[in-house]
Amino acid sequence: MLDQINKLIEEITSFSPSLETEINDFRIKYLSKKGKISMLFNDFRSVPEEQKKIIGEKLNELKKIAQEKLAEISSKFESRIAGTKEIDYTLPGDPLSIGSRHPVSIVRNEIIEIFSRLGFTVAEGPEIEDDWHNFTALNFPEAHPARDMQDTFFITKDPDVMLRTQTSSAQVRVMERQKPPIRIISPGRVFRNEAISARHHCIFHQVEGLYINENVSFADLKQALYYFAVEMFGPETKIRLRPSYFPFTEPSGEMDISCSLCSGKGCNVCKGTGWLEIMGCGMVHPNVLKFCGIDPVKYTGYAFGMGIERVCMLKYRVNDLRLYFENDKRFLDQFISQVI
Ligand code: DAH
Repeated sequence: MLDQINKLIEEITSFSPSLETEINDFRIKYLSKKGKISMLFNDFRSVPEEQKKIIGEKLNELKKIAQEKLAEISSKFESRIAGTKEIDYTLPGDPLSIGSRHPVSIVRNEIIEIFSRLGFTVAEGPEIEDDWHNFTALNFPEAHPARDMQDTFFITKDPDVMLRTQTSSAQVRVMERQKPPIRIISPGRVFRNEAISARHHCIFHQVEGLYINENVSFADLKQALYYFAVEMFGPETKIRLRPSYFPFTEPSGEMDISCSLCSGKGCNVCKGTGWLEIMGCGMVHPNVLKFCGIDPVKYTGYAFGMGIERVCMLKYRVNDLRLYFENDKRFLDQFISQVI
């Protein structure tokens, strides 16, 4: 039996497969239940007592050698396969699917780009605000009904901590820390406690604009907004300004652009008027300048604010606000060709 074992050890150690299938054959031949080694273990029972020690040790050695050999040849084959796998370079590649920018980001970037050509730089503010920056410094007196125009989310028991309802809060922060001339736009997310529908959402985006300097006039505002409208909506675009009310501007206005769908003739998008409302604006109220430490006698300024989704809706003719927040890939993939 000892001879048999030694023969097998020799056979196993010199074994070197050239085909992958030989590995399994090896396992079956030596290490399976009916394999040669198992058979020897069966025969071992009838080995005379005095030889059991020597033969037993040798048998265990054989088994170990076979197991190690199996591991060795398996791993050798795996790495050989990995190393020599033939690559067909003529096959088409696996296409990587490209993500698209969200329409809100596309339009935000476009707005930033247009105003940066007029010298505006971006100044962002925090989404969690205090009453001073969101309301009081913007000339919303305490308990003034104008506060109800924007239903606020309070996030702690403290009524001083809230999610900003408008990016106008950012202009206060800039004016507090910077001396005129100031020329900033502030894009960002705003929050209002509104029931969600096609036309309203509790989260949306705005861009605020602010220009403070000596001798800034309403004509400057109108010129800047006209430039924006033409750049954003095309050279045929007309604008008009209607009087409005905001606590932080005086006088206040609302800017409409001519409806690009019907060229101002009247259609269902512009509800027959030929005009589309696009943003609020006005001359910064002297109280706001004062609250922010800027001399309202020396300086004047204009401000404007628009909803980014509103611009998106007009630009891409998407008329349900909810689509902008659902992240439905079928919706987002439609903007894949837009790069900005
Ligand atoms: N903050 C206003 C709103 O959320 C928008 C706005 C209107 C901003 C007029 C302005 C402005 O700066 O002058 O409805």
